[in-house]
Order: sequence, then structure tokens, then C-alpha cells
Amino acid sequence: MLNIVLFGPPGSGKGTQSEKIIEKYGLIHISTGDLLREQVAAQTELGKQAKEIMDTGELVSDKIVIGMIRVKLEENQDSPGFIFDGFPRTIEQARELRKALTDYDERVGVMISLEVPREELVKRLLKRGEETGRSDDNLEIINNRIDVYNRQTIPVTYYYDKMHKHAAVDGIGSVDKIYSRIVEVNGKVKK
Ligand code: AP5
Ligand code: MG
Repeated sequence: MLNIVLFGPPGSGKGTQSEKIIEKYGLIHISTGDLLREQVAAQTELGKQAKEIMDTGELVSDKIVIGMIRVKLEENQDSPGFIFDGFPRTIEQARELRKALTDYDERVGVMISLEVPREELVKRLLKRGEETGRSDDNLEIINNRIDVYNRQTIPVTYYYDKMHKHAAVDGIGSVDKIYSRIVEVNGKVKK
């Protein structure tokens, strides 16, 4: 299996690049943000709780997201691998992912972090907010999402650094150019 963690701040292009990566490698895409938005749209109890938190830009509890990940792993045991988009976002989530994959004799092959400066993130997300109406794409929440990322999520890079799995990729440029940088990193990863 090939298991990739696609990491980076809000608006860094995780979702955009995931679409291209799954096409090339046939991986299952697991975006915790998308899974949570599905719950919100279906108006489930979990969705109602999550929406309140997502509308502030804070993180939903580790327990909820880890539970969703475990269900997806269980459902897709025969897949050639997974791309984790927007997960793990805390050290606790990184530890739990390791445990969950170990249950299937699997591990994370590489953690690719897309590096994009704050001004560019804000610009991209404001534009997306206008185009799609995603409810957390407004200036106040965008700023909090980036602050939360810097405070709570950046430490996850140190976790993968220690295991020599962290590869930083420049996330500025055309979508295709960034994708080719990711493919190059991936080519160097032991499967
Ligand atoms: P989530 O859905 O993960 O959102 P996010 O991290 O804020 O990231 P985005 O989806 O906004 O950005 P992206 O990196 O995917 O970029 P994209 O490709 O879309 O999380 C939402 C919320 O859910 C969180 O705030 C939290 O509350 C909760 N949550 C989710 N996961 C959680 C977890 N694990 N634990 C706890 N809580 C969790 O691109 C952005 C825009 O830029 C698009 O319009 C795109 O077209 C454009 N773009 C992409 N690439 C380029 C480029 N190269 N040049 C110019 N524009 C570009
Ligand atoms: Mg996304």
C-alpha cells in the first residue's frame, strides 16, 4: 500500500492536489473536512455539533475525526492505499493514525506539506468564498483557521520529521507545476 499524508494550511491546495494524486495512483481520498461537511449537509447529530465548531475555525474533537478515519480504513481494506487530506491535525491524531494503520500492518509512507505564505492563502480562500459560498471562507474565520493551524497543527510536522517522513513542497505556482513536485517526492519514497 501507498499511504500519503497531504498536509498544509487552509487553502494550500490539499484538496486540489489530492484529486490529481488519486487519479495517478488509484488511492482512496480521505478528507476529514469533506467527511464533516457531508455530516453537516445530512444534518446528523454529529454534523450539527461539528458545524458549530467549523464555523469558528477551531478543530473538531480528535475523538470524532479518528472515529471517521477508522470507519474509512475498515471500509476500504482492499485499496492500493490512502491519501489523508487535512488529517492528522494534532499530535494525538498522528499517533492514532499510526495505531490504526498498524492494525492493518500498514504505515504512512510520506507526509507531504504544501508551503504557501499567509497572504496567498487568504487571497485564495476569499476568492473561493465568493465563488462557492463555503461558509468558513470569510476573513475572520480564515484568519482563525490559519492561527489554529500555526498553533495546533504545525507540531505534527515535528512528529513526522522525527521519523524522516516529512517532505516540504513549494505550494506556489500553477496546479500542474506543484503536482509535478509532489510526484517527484513520491518517486523517492519506499513503498
Ligand atoms: P478542511 O476542509 O480540511 O479545510 P482547510 O484545512 O481549512 O483547507 P481547505 O479545504 O480550505 O484548503 P485546501 O488545502 O484543501 O485547499 P484547496 O485545494 O481547496 O477543514 C475545515 C474544518 O473542518 C476545519 O476548520 C475544522 O473545523 C474541521 N476539520 C477538518 N479536519 C479536521 C481534523 N483532522 N481535526 C479536527 N477538525 C477538522 O484550495 C483552496 C483554493 O485555492 C481553491 O479555490 C483552489 O481552486 C485554489 N487553488 C488551489 N491550488 C492553487 C494554486 N496552485 N494557485 C492558485 N489557486 C489555487
Ligand atoms: Mg480541502
